[in-house]
Amino acid sequence: MRILVSGGAGFIGSHTCVELLNQGYDVTLFDDFSNSSEEVVSKIKEITGKDLKCFKCDMKDKKALEKVFKKDKYDALIHFAGYKAVGESVAKPLMYYENNLFGSVNLFELCKKYEVNKIIFSSSATVYGLSENMPLKEDAPLSVTNPYGRTKLIIEGILEDMAKAEKQFSIVVLRYFNPIGAHESGLIGEDPNGIPNNLMPRLLDVVRGKAGCLMVYGGDYPTPDGTGVRDYIHVTDLAEGHICALRYAFSGFTGIDAFNLGCGRGVSVLELINTFEKVNNVKINYKIVDRRPGDVAENYADVSKAKSILGFTAEKTVEDMCRDSYRFCMKKENMK
Ligand SMILES: NC(=O)c1ccc[n+]([C@@H]2O[C@H](COP(=O)([O-])OP(=O)(O)OC[C@H]3O[C@@H](n4cnc5c(N)ncnc54)[C@H](O)[C@@H]3O)[C@@H](O)[C@H]2O)c1
Repeated sequence: MRILVSGGAGFIGSHTCVELLNQGYDVTLFDDFSNSSEEVVSKIKEITGKDLKCFKCDMKDKKALEKVFKKDKYDALIHFAGYKAVGESVAKPLMYYENNLFGSVNLFELCKKYEVNKIIFSSSATVYGLSENMPLKEDAPLSVTNPYGRTKLIIEGILEDMAKAEKQFSIVVLRYFNPIGAHESGLIGEDPNGIPNNLMPRLLDVVRGKAGCLMVYGGDYPTPDGTGVRDYIHVTDLAEGHICALRYAFSGFTGIDAFNLGCGRGVSVLELINTFEKVNNVKINYKIVDRRPGDVAENYADVSKAKSILGFTAEKTVEDMCRDSYRFCMKKENMK
């Protein structure tokens, strides 16, 4: 079975390619490498000892994208490609709409034309907006607080309309909570270009001296230690979640269905920092500052739907996540 992976050189895409190859799927990835590098593709081959096809392609360029579709018959698409930095999306909304929306429409049009009827889409817990009813269930009201989130919500809507109009599609929407960690080999991990947006890459920048101090936004939330609580999931668990979603798409199901992928447990920023310090025997210089507008106190998933329908449960601990993130970061530093 051949799987087309958009954005396959990125953080979650690369770990999913490893898992796909390990489980015997044929993989073709394409990426424009705007937030990744071609080196990742050789790392995927090194980890798995298997080959995969890779194309440098920007999904906004429909002609170039069609060449990828003409190369092979794909049985499914896993769609990761897109920009993902919330702050940047507020500053440059049109760039986000152009890339994430136009690119996705190109991709879905070609899926229809070339009969790639199984689609797995990377959505995000951000589509739950500022909802305060924890844990979040898939049928919670959806809303957005920034252009990035709006692109996710619009793409979910586009896929819903496609599934209604064309009965051959099996579409699985995966709403990720907070993926961190790295492959245990230390060869692939989160390596964003530019200034990182999320907690773990910012923490790692402090560890390797690229930033002086980790800002913890808000110490007065109504949470056990006052800092924000999030649902962290190890990226290799998340990759496994995609395999479960693929199996579901091939199980005879048609239409569209959405699933939360998280651990189902809230972990505070301070808890994460303390665990990181303990398992890696390092000290993190941090400072608690004012809350950030748009941040919620708590955000964690109800994972029962993914467990009962996809058969997916995240297994790795926060200790594993901190250990693996650190290993990847230090390996990268030592190679410089
Ligand atoms: N990492 C997270 O915290 C998180 C959380 C929820 C959802 N997501 C979503 O999951 C997906 C993957 O996230 P990630 O963390 O691996 O991000 P990433 O930036 O590491 O990976 C995305 C990949 O897509 C590529 N890309 C971007 N625009 C492209 C284009 N026009 N054509 C071809 N390739 C393009 C990038 O170069 C990159 O390799 C994204 O859609 C993201 O929005 C991520």
